[in-house]
Amino acid sequence: MSNLTMQAVRFHEYGGPEVLVLEQAPRPQPQADQVLIRVLAAGVNPADAAMRAGYFKEFMPLTLPWVPGFEGAGIVQAAGENVTAFQPGQGVFGFVAGGYAEYAVAAASEVQPKPAHLTFEEAATVPMGALVAWQAVIETANVQTGQRVLVHGAAGGVGLYAVQLAKWKGAHVIGTSSGGNSEFVRSLGAEAIDYNTTPFETVVRDVDVVVDTVGGQVIEHSWQVLRPNGILVTIAGRLAPEAGLAHGVRAASAGRGAPERRVVELLARRKLTFRATQAAATAFDFGLQLDVEPVHREHQRRRRPHAQPALDVKTFHDGWRVRVNQREHRKVRHRQR
Ligand SMILES: NC(=O)c1ccc[n+]([C@@H]2O[C@H](COP(=O)([O-])OP(=O)(O)OC[C@H]3O[C@@H](n4cnc5c(N)ncnc54)[C@H](OP(=O)(O)O)[C@@H]3O)[C@@H](O)[C@H]2O)c1
Repeated sequence: MSNLTMQAVRFHEYGGPEVLVLEQAPRPQPQADQVLIRVLAAGVNPADAAMRAGYFKEFMPLTLPWVPGFEGAGIVQAAGENVTAFQPGQGVFGFVAGGYAEYAVAAASEVQPKPAHLTFEEAATVPMGALVAWQAVIETANVQTGQRVLVHGAAGGVGLYAVQLAKWKGAHVIGTSSGGNSEFVRSLGAEAIDYNTTPFETVVRDVDVVVDTVGGQVIEHSWQVLRPNGILVTIAGRLAPEAGLAHGVRAASAGRGAPERRVVELLARRKLTFRATQAAATAFDFGLQLDVEPVHREHQRRRRPHAQPALDVKTFHDGWRVRVNQREHRKVRHRQR
């Protein structure tokens, strides 16, 4: 294969998982502040499937064909002229756009050395989940020792790190998941609630912080379990700060932040762990041979109702705002006109 091309999984039109095809594509070249990475594993996120399906196309149109992927791990192949932190041959992980390919470029500031005890596949699943959870738990909710924290979607790609970070800060953590993941949630150190059998609002009271990764009705039912002046932070859409006012609590949204050195330190000290048993955090292990079959399988898996993006198409079109109630919804529509 020439240095100008590579194998990549990409799509030429929006649609179901079947639009993803394995084919030759131009190999990206690193700019001065970038590294070229030989991708060994690419993380799979709900947003990959949402972008492929065209949910974001109204406000984030893609230039097709598009190579999906937000995060990955691999080996530095070449570094741009301004990059001093990384050398060719070094194992790295981080935000790697277009990671469903043999090669991808990333800003040197967006990747970190891969902790030695994590495989490339494990490391590829960490950046998005851990850094969004960091934003929600540490930067936005500012969780403190002794607080009670409820994490919705505690077994998910973001939730599993939200639980661990809240535990690290010394909080008492309660996590919702399906029953099959209860044991996993308990293994992270949280009390587990099966959302299929137990409405959490019937058993949870007086929490200081709700970290929501699900959205919709889960947010609606969460206001009542918060202490006065408690805070609900969602990552599943945008929530206006005033949404909590009627309930005497605070509301906020969080998204991915800049790569956080302390996350890498926590990983290195094994305070924060990737759990191989976790079904939601997955990666394609490309190894030496790129294959489209596992990519199809992972995108197919995200068709399951509970693995769908938490917001529906209508909500995406409304600009990522969770439809907290009808009044909120009308307000958004009005502003758009
Ligand atoms: N704002 C951002 O920058 C950002 C970044 C990353 C993700 N996100 C969004 O955040 C959401 C979650 O992402 P993710 O990567 O964590 O997804 P994920 O790995 O698919 O996990 C979602 C979890 O939600 C759980 N769940 C589904 N219905 C539930 C309910 N009614 N109550 C409690 N838990 C429920 C599922 O639990 P079970 O598996 O146990 O059924 C699943 O593990 C997605 O919408 C994603 O697009 C936003």
